Amino acid sequence: MQDLIARLPKAELHVHLEGCLDPALMFALARRNGISLRWSSPDELRAAYRFDNLQSFLDLYYEGCRVLVTEQDFHDLTLQYLRQAHGDGVVRAEMFLGPQGLIERGVAIGTIMRGVLGAMRAATAECGISAGLLISAQRHRSAADALALLDQVLPWAEQITGFGMGGAEAGNPPSKFAGFFRECRSLGFPVTIHAGEEGPAAYIREAIDLLQVDRIDHGVACMSDPALVRDLVARGIPLTVCPLSNVRLKVVPSLAAHPLRAMLDSGLNVSVHSDDPPYFDGTIAENYRQCEHGLGLSVEQIATLARNSFAAAFMPPDDKARGCGAVDAWCAQASDCADFGPSRLRTGPTSH
Ligand code: HPA
Ligand code: ZN
Repeated sequence: MQDLIARLPKAELHVHLEGCLDPALMFALARRNGISLRWSSPDELRAAYRFDNLQSFLDLYYEGCRVLVTEQDFHDLTLQYLRQAHGDGVVRAEMFLGPQGLIERGVAIGTIMRGVLGAMRAATAECGISAGLLISAQRHRSAADALALLDQVLPWAEQITGFGMGGAEAGNPPSKFAGFFRECRSLGFPVTIHAGEEGPAAYIREAIDLLQVDRIDHGVACMSDPALVRDLVARGIPLTVCPLSNVRLKVVPSLAAHPLRAMLDSGLNVSVHSDDPPYFDGTIAENYRQCEHGLGLSVEQIATLARNSFAAAFMPPDDKARGCGAVDAWCAQASDCADFGPSRLRTGPTSH
């Protein structure tokens, strides 16, 4: 059965590599590295994926990272994600990697970078996917820690696409990291930050005015501040939204209550992404499908999300234009189907 959403060309701009560690791979790596887990099976671990908020997820996420030890582990994790993304119609993937907790546990930064970068090259050779790496600092750590991370990864500067920031948002405002972002930008890197996920709209304001970031990750809290929405629209600042993550972490009470549709209607440059796919039970294509179904998005709105993803990607203008052109071609094909309608996105006609 054809799946029009999986054939929609798209860019995944908000996905955490460590968050792609699914239960089966976590158990395989634990066995390979002689690490014991407190769950007896992948199914038991999956059953623990019930979160009250961002912190309850982060606790489990950091615990899972303990199985990542060798270069091969990072290679396997990265290649598995990129293959899955390719199957979901992702032609450009910009992946977050947060090395601080790994380094703290004694994993060498070279081990991590060689594993991830090698898998990115392998995936591109295998299926043509374009892959970029975003080094992410953790905001519960200090500003000095973030600057130290920057120094640690600079030997790989040529292979790093940009820098970001994730982790516990409340109480850790963007302003805490003004020096880090200034330094990243002065070195010529594009920058993005998680803001307005659990934190307030004021954090998004700080991120765009003080840090001068190129994108905002999540950003859903902007909808409580009309002046901020107007500025985000006027300045064309992209927001990488992760609807299923927002539902699972109780940022919104349900998918039906998610502001994605209102964000599109406001003219915001929003796009849809997966964040941590196995933890939130949804790859990027599944996020698109559930939004189409749950929010009643039109074909044109789905295409707008995909075009926005290319416009927001950290890649040259020609590549962005090629991505948008591929979305146009998808639209032409999709609307050729006489009975094409929102529900057809899930199981489209086989002749196209
Ligand atoms: N928010 C903040 N930090 C994160 C997330 C998230 O959704 N996923 C992985 N690290
Ligand atoms: Zn995230």
